[in-house]
Amino acid sequence: MAAEQNVERGNWNSKLGFVLAAAGSAVGLGNIWRFPGEVAEGGGAAFIIVYLVCCFLVGFPVMAAELTIGRATGKNPVGAFKALSKSKFFPFVGFWGVLCGFMILSFYTVVAGWTLSFFFEEIFYFIGNEQLVNYFSQLDNGLKNAIFSSLFMIATIQIITGGVSDGIERVTKVLMPFLLVILIIMIGYVITLDGAEKGLELYLKPDFSKVTTDVMFDAMGQAFFSLSLGMGALITYGSYLDRKSDIPQAAAYVTLADISVAVIAGLLIIPAMFVAEASGIAIFAESGALKSSTTLVFDVLPQLFHTMSPIVGLLFGGTFFLLLSMAALTSTISLLEVPVSYVIDERGWRRKSAAWALGGTILAISLIISFDIGLIDFIDTIFSTVGLPLGGLLIALFVGYIWTTNNALMEMEDGTENFDKSFFYKFWPYFIKYISPILIGIVFIRTIMELF
Ligand code: PHE
Repeated sequence: MAAEQNVERGNWNSKLGFVLAAAGSAVGLGNIWRFPGEVAEGGGAAFIIVYLVCCFLVGFPVMAAELTIGRATGKNPVGAFKALSKSKFFPFVGFWGVLCGFMILSFYTVVAGWTLSFFFEEIFYFIGNEQLVNYFSQLDNGLKNAIFSSLFMIATIQIITGGVSDGIERVTKVLMPFLLVILIIMIGYVITLDGAEKGLELYLKPDFSKVTTDVMFDAMGQAFFSLSLGMGALITYGSYLDRKSDIPQAAAYVTLADISVAVIAGLLIIPAMFVAEASGIAIFAESGALKSSTTLVFDVLPQLFHTMSPIVGLLFGGTFFLLLSMAALTSTISLLEVPVSYVIDERGWRRKSAAWALGGTILAISLIISFDIGLIDFIDTIFSTVGLPLGGLLIALFVGYIWTTNNALMEMEDGTENFDKSFFYKFWPYFIKYISPILIGIVFIRTIMELF
């Protein structure tokens, strides 16, 4: 299909580049901002177990499905569904994905903006420039959010304008490995501090009494959010793949990379919370529950950094928020690429105008959110926690029953050696047809039943 692609679309340069870009999409605020808080609330290791079940039994098969749809058609989510069936309904599923990406990016940019602003705040704090620190703290929060989300969006647009291999691939290839190294160094340090043990215990000891329907619902939503599934981001990334790539393997690498970073981030953040507590910083709300992820990452952590000696604090505080913004950037790129690829393919736009027009529109929503951050929860619930598993369910049904798993397997055969003898070949169709839809369905139905 590569031959009929127009120049505005592009292709990945290398296999590693693609895996890192897809892993870069997956690894983001979901792993470092959302995941640790959910683990802490959802019964520590008990939540992790439920989460892993969601990732392996639902996430991984759906990821392979999305990449396959993308490569088979070489198109954006809407175009891909159009190309594979005559159904009038499924292109709307693609469109729902584009919309989810649009809305998720609008609040994601605001949170990503915080990571950037904290990067600067930490630096100013530790180099002791009181003037700048004061200037920052007296700045109106809404205005600050607006400035930093704009900066973040502009960076995202710039990279998208650079295209697939020169923009996305080049940036993520450098940022991803760096992220992992920094996380591990920080854990090594935090683990040695007072209080860390209590955090480790909370993280690693399963408390199954906490695993309610709500928690299962959150775990499913978290799995989709963190793996970038259910909205066609990986259909889009798959559409830039060549026929030599091994899709099941790529999906396995990306899933494992994402889960590892989440588990590693938890290993840093949760012990760090208790280190903060040991130095007198409040980490529990009045109700006795742990404070929200947002408070933990953007309030408790900086306070913890400030108890450290200037050099260590600067190194940790500065790098932590820098790292978080890099992780966020490789995800915002993929979020914007979805609507951009849609208007390039379906409406014949130029990449550059598409990136600026769509990025600008999304930024307008981000600016509204900047001044009313209560909206984040609301948009997050509708478009990620509900929207993504819903999209994933429909994608699984589409591949399972409309396009058919046989066609999908035939597509995956290209690039995969000895494919028909593999474990994946035998079992994946059952996962897509039955296990994933049933598990997502159960979580939805139980939640709806509980609502009424
Ligand atoms: N997976 C990203 C994260 O964990 C968020 C994301 C969701 C990116 C959906 C693309 C698509 O932060």
